[in-house]
Amino acid sequence: MTARVRALRSVELACTDAKAMTRFFTEAWKLLPVGEESGVAYLRGSGVFHHILSIRQTPRTALIRVVFDAADRATVDALHTQLIAHGIKTIERPAPLKQPHGDYGFGYKDPEGRNMAVVCGVKDHADGADQPDRPRKISHINLNNGDPEATFAVLRDGLGFRLTDTTKKMRFLSCNADHHSVVLGFSGGTTLNHIAFELPDFDAVMRGAGRMRDDGRPIEWGPGRHGPGNNVFCYFLGPEDLPVEYTAEMQQIDDSYRPRTPEEWTWPAGRLDHWGISAKPSDRIEKAGENYRFTADGWKLDEWKK
Ligand SMILES: [Fe+2]
Repeated sequence: MTARVRALRSVELACTDAKAMTRFFTEAWKLLPVGEESGVAYLRGSGVFHHILSIRQTPRTALIRVVFDAADRATVDALHTQLIAHGIKTIERPAPLKQPHGDYGFGYKDPEGRNMAVVCGVKDHADGADQPDRPRKISHINLNNGDPEATFAVLRDGLGFRLTDTTKKMRFLSCNADHHSVVLGFSGGTTLNHIAFELPDFDAVMRGAGRMRDDGRPIEWGPGRHGPGNNVFCYFLGPEDLPVEYTAEMQQIDDSYRPRTPEEWTWPAGRLDHWGISAKPSDRIEKAGENYRFTADGWKLDEWKK
């Protein structure tokens, strides 16, 4: 049986003004600080995960890594074996980690050089509960691709993701009841499309859009309701033109879900979402992710090891 990750846990971000980025994510975006260690700020959502975003200062804006959660050490080991079986060569041996990163895990580079990590045993919070305007968690990360077939194959066969839908532009991948936790574009090079944060409901997305407006950040795409996943969306640009989405009402699926094809997800002319009110994304947000590439050397979990 294929071993599976069970969640997208966190994204590790590098930026040129960590103070401004942290202010944005706490004051305007409504994440909560959970401490700082060795110059890295850790932020949580209202859910149980210890942190869902880390921010560190570097000379260049970049992504450091994407972290997936596994159920236990046996699953971590099985995922490690699967990744190697599916051709991943730049990969660490699973090792004990120190909190808040888990108690066990490993890092690897995906076929396009992205830094990924699989961990288990993180000491999470006991007080996870919805709060009206706070993101619960990272809903999904959407990645542009230079080699979409290779990247997709490793997420499917190496990490156990399941394909839930395909459009002309993207594949949607699920690792739990959420319709998607990772989205892979068919083009755009190895850059970031956006990071999406899940709010408790539709009203929270709209109030979030108001908060972004107060913060000098107009809606770059939306509001609307997506096709695949049926989730409500509004997109914005954070500091350093970080493309971010507020979303809610992600479709919950089970094994009976039937993946749909690009033909089935073709909108009528002039439409881009279920409501039909959303214009196309701004040129600025379409280009924003180009600045967010993965660091060349961030695949090892050295700093996290015991
Ligand atoms: Fe999204």
